[in-house]
Amino acid sequence: MLVLVLNGPNLSRLGTREPEVYGLTSHDDLVASCEQWGRDLDLDVEVRQTDDEAELVRWIHEAADSATPVVLNPAAFTHYSYALRDACAQLRAGLVEVHISNPAAREAFRHTSVISAVATGTIAGFGVDSYRLALSSIAAGPLSD
Ligand code: DQA
Repeated sequence: MLVLVLNGPNLSRLGTREPEVYGLTSHDDLVASCEQWGRDLDLDVEVRQTDDEAELVRWIHEAADSATPVVLNPAAFTHYSYALRDACAQLRAGLVEVHISNPAAREAFRHTSVISAVATGTIAGFGVDSYRLALSSIAAGPLSD
């Protein structure tokens, strides 16, 4: 099963960006880890990063049309992008919102996510391991009663 891992603005800067908040793992390292976790979980993982809201929206449309599950770190778009939220509402095969840090424990503007209400679930605060947990939840399949 293909899973798209989509990273929003500034996440290309991982490793040098505020390492006390986001750690020392680079985006290239994160890509390699996600691909390895995918192999471990029998998932075909494709990781993309963009600073461009329109490009991210187009990738979400692609996932909606192909019924592909998505792991999304919307980065700062989390807190204000209704365009991204409306795109995410069209997804049909699951959406896991991930954050490296725990936005709830940070500045007040990070306490709002406009994405969470249209996500299957949210994983935040576990460093880059948040992505492994998100991929595991997708591999485990949909929740049953
Ligand atoms: C982030 C948290 C956001 O508040 C921030 O804007 C980011 C990264 C995280 O992964 O912890 O860019 O999504």
